Amino acid sequence: MGELFAAARAVQANAYAPYSRFKVGAALKTPSGEIYAGGNVENAAYPNGVCAETSAISAMAAAGERRIAEICVIGDGEALCTPCGGCRQRIREFADGETLVHVAGPEGVRRTFRLAELLPESFGPGHLPA
Ligand code: THU
Repeated sequence: MGELFAAARAVQANAYAPYSRFKVGAALKTPSGEIYAGGNVENAAYPNGVCAETSAISAMAAAGERRIAEICVIGDGEALCTPCGGCRQRIREFADGETLVHVAGPEGVRRTFRLAELLPESFGPGHLPA
C-alpha cells in the first residue's frame, strides 16, 4: 500500500487545477503489479476537466491493461476525497465490488472502502449480453 500512496502523492503535485485549486492524485495497481497514476486536468471550459482517477485509468488502458487490483486517491483538506460518482463507475468498469479504494490525505490513507460500499448494486460489463 505504501508505494500506491507514494505514487498518488507524487502525481498530485503535477495535477493541473488552476480553477478549483484542488489538486488530486490517483494511483492504481494492476494484477501484474504495475502502477499507473494521474492527476486532475482542468480546463478553461470548465466541464471539460477530467478527474485524477480518470487520468490514471486512461494511463492504464493506454498501456494495454484492463484490471484494477486497488486504487488510491489523494486530496488535500479535511474532507475525505472520495471519487466522484462518474469515477466510481469508471473504476467499476475494470474492477469489482471487492476492489479496495484507499482515500488519502497528505498524511496518509484515511479510509479504505470496498468499491461496493461506494457504488452499491452497480452496473458493469457483465450486465451486457455477450
Ligand atoms: N476531483 C478529482 O480529480 N477526483 C476526485 O475524486 C474528486 C474531485 C477533481 C475534479 C476537479 O478538478 C477538482 O477535483 C475539484 O472538484
